[in-house]
Amino acid sequence: MFVLGIETTCDETAAAIVKDGHDILSNSIFSQSELHQKYGGVFPEIASRSHTTHLISVIERALSEAKLSFSDLDLIAVANGPGLMGSILVGLNTAKALAYSLKIPLIGINHVEAHLYASMMNQKSYFPSLGVVLSGGHTFLLKMDEAHRSHLLGTTQDDAIGEAFDKVASILDLPYPGGPAIETLAQLGDASKYFFKKGTIKDRPFDFSFSGLKTKVLYTVKGQGGSKKKTSIIDPKEKKHIAASFQKTVFQDVIDKMRKAIDKYRLKSVYLGGGVTENQTLQKMVSQTFSDCKIFFPSKGLSLDNGAMIAGLGYQKFISKRQSDPLSLDVKVRIPLEDLHQNQ
Ligand code: KG4
Ligand code: ZN
Repeated sequence: MFVLGIETTCDETAAAIVKDGHDILSNSIFSQSELHQKYGGVFPEIASRSHTTHLISVIERALSEAKLSFSDLDLIAVANGPGLMGSILVGLNTAKALAYSLKIPLIGINHVEAHLYASMMNQKSYFPSLGVVLSGGHTFLLKMDEAHRSHLLGTTQDDAIGEAFDKVASILDLPYPGGPAIETLAQLGDASKYFFKKGTIKDRPFDFSFSGLKTKVLYTVKGQGGSKKKTSIIDPKEKKHIAASFQKTVFQDVIDKMRKAIDKYRLKSVYLGGGVTENQTLQKMVSQTFSDCKIFFPSKGLSLDNGAMIAGLGYQKFISKRQSDPLSLDVKVRIPLEDLHQNQ
């Protein structure tokens, strides 16, 4: 089956063709990050307008790289949430129009589940496992009994992890997206020079909080009680040490919670996904810590938002449900996700 996957939930306009759920024939992405740089984060109205401008050409590029035409497609998979309403609508309506005119089935995909599928593609499954989603909009720990059966263990109570990277980068005058900029700067720094405390939530061992840490970085750079607009009080040479200490604190927090979940539920493997998993320091720290467990990161090009993870999971869902979604399929802006059951 040739599946077209469409992804427009945030600031990446993406489309891909995947054969039978795992064979990636093309993975076309137009990144809007330059457009959002001056705002230090995603500006929703600009994001949806840019999707409208670029989506058709991104889809055409995906088809031509796969050496296919519209008439070869068997299924259209589209991320219908969670994410930005206006952005999702562009992808969803385009997917509906294509499915209707080509007379092929349509399937709606949960963007967060797709991030995890990115590290399962072409891998053997070892369940029960831990799903770890670390992206600009989402931070989740999930206990996965099967690829489509997950229980939410924990999430963030404030900022998402990637959002924390983006905000701290902005405090340090680094460009958006902040994750790659912090990673590069941190490589030159001493992670033990500053002590930042990780966020904890009472009685919720698997939940995250990053806003206190972000404020601590803000006050370190701008002075106690200082705001983002204030001038910095530190020597610019300190920035690399602050970036390294921040990054280490955040990743150690994630790793400690992963360890707790693996031990408590006797999990056999970990599947990670989302833009933050691109970070090489995280990959190294995780691989060194969990030598007793099988660890799967997304392969190259599948960590950040992309259409291949949507097409791949679309195929799996379509095959297992033996049913497509109606053209009345709606946007699902929010979490909790329909298929994830809260497990308190
Ligand atoms: O998964 P993604 O493309 O979009 C969402 O679903 O949100 O993730 C984007 C996020 C941004 O916040 C970006 O700063 C972060 O992933 N990111 C990184 C790295 N590359 C991207 N964070 C840390 N280290 C990186 N190398
Ligand atoms: Zn994402």
